[in-house]
Amino acid sequence: MAMAKLTIDGTDSATLTTDGHEVDLPVITGSEGEVGVNISKVRAQTGTITLDVGFGNTGSCQSDITFIDGEQGILRYRGYSIEDLCEHSSFIEVSYLLIHGNLPTAKELQQFEYDLKHHSLLHEDMKKFFENYPRKAHPMSVLSSMVTTLSTFYPESTEADQIDLNIIRLMAKLDTLTAFSYRKSVGQPYVYPQNHLSFTANFLNMMFALPTEPYQVSPTLERAMDLLLILHADHEQNCSTSTVRMVGSSGANLFASISSGISALSGPLHGGANQAVINMLQMIVDDGGDYEKYMAKAKDKSDPFRLMGFGHRVYKNFDPRARIIKKAADDVLDELGIEDPLLDVAKHLERIALEDEYFVARRLYPNVDFYSGILYRAMGIPTNMFTVMFAMGRLPGWIAQWKEMRSDPATKIFRPRQIYTGPTYRAYTPIENR
Ligand code: SDX
Repeated sequence: MAMAKLTIDGTDSATLTTDGHEVDLPVITGSEGEVGVNISKVRAQTGTITLDVGFGNTGSCQSDITFIDGEQGILRYRGYSIEDLCEHSSFIEVSYLLIHGNLPTAKELQQFEYDLKHHSLLHEDMKKFFENYPRKAHPMSVLSSMVTTLSTFYPESTEADQIDLNIIRLMAKLDTLTAFSYRKSVGQPYVYPQNHLSFTANFLNMMFALPTEPYQVSPTLERAMDLLLILHADHEQNCSTSTVRMVGSSGANLFASISSGISALSGPLHGGANQAVINMLQMIVDDGGDYEKYMAKAKDKSDPFRLMGFGHRVYKNFDPRARIIKKAADDVLDELGIEDPLLDVAKHLERIALEDEYFVARRLYPNVDFYSGILYRAMGIPTNMFTVMFAMGRLPGWIAQWKEMRSDPATKIFRPRQIYTGPTYRAYTPIENR
């Protein structure tokens, strides 16, 4: 097998040597000291491409939005730590920060909230779509379809000068879409947005208020929802965000790009994991709490079972979001006097896994999805909507990343290469000779 040699000379250049070719490559160092070799010219100069299945070692872009240090368990949005933002900020303020790059002034935040409140209604004709989905339709499928359907109600949505308005429309309508699809699935009347409520209180009200009696939003759950949305708001170039960037790089409009991100997020290895965690914990409880059996299954290569909510491509010591959510789950359940046996099962599973050689050797720790479902259950959110909650949180991040990609003059349509390993040329064989 031919070998190539990459030599990184200090922090500004690298040399790639491959069967007689030697090319100098620029090296880029990010604001946090991350070093990347720019291989954009490698194929043109050597005829060789690089191969990185799953892109675990390949940067797709330079970005100012989110910084993750997987070794130190650091997550920052535009330089602000999630710990500080969870303590001092709100989901709407964090959304503004991600989309516009800085924390808003009081006037900017007031205008942003006003704009969101005055674009939160859906066109009444959109309700007809809800009427025709099967009752058991998965909310992520409904959400992805309804988001791309939004673009049909705004035909001008492909125009560049509509981008800021479309961002407001999407930020304002996604929770209404979510709540309406839930109400339809349980056969209850729609509850319309109420402008006197906060973003999270309004969402809980649209989800759970009944026409027969006043609904009092629990401030504890309102704050817990805000915390969960902040913690899910962005996560640099994960699977669904890369999908949003890829689809947007073709010139597809914002609604179509976000709809594709929702579909990518729905997979059980990605955002679908929060629903899979609760299903797994319930399965362990229903099976008599046989932890050893499930730990053995998780380690058995011939068994497709994985410890859902564990492991991460980037975090190799701990996912800072999991730590914050685990504490919030404890606090909220204590405050509301809720006993959830699945929280105890999750904690027990974490304790066992963190002492198990298989998990320790592979640096597998609880990720953002391991405890989030406990909080969603406390709010009364049905399990099949957990990933929709993830999508609601991730929306400002997807929008910020899409906007950054679109406004970057260096952006080109995503078009990775491949190494072909199929049959070489062969002549067509008439069917009678096969
Ligand atoms: C999210 O990228 C992001 O930022 C995503 C996210 C975001 O905010 O956008 O953080 C949100 O998607 C969190 C991840 C949610 N998914 C899960 O909880 C599903 C369970 N976890 C995995 O399947 C897995 O850990 C991934 C998908 C999260 C990461 O997979 P990688 O990085 O491709 O790692 P891998 O599959 O190559 O695993 C390395 C080893 C393998 O064993 P060996 O082949 O080395 O023997 O670890 C094992 C895997 O079999 N392994 C697990 C495991 N996760 C990895 N074994 C048992 N249970 C698990 N959960």
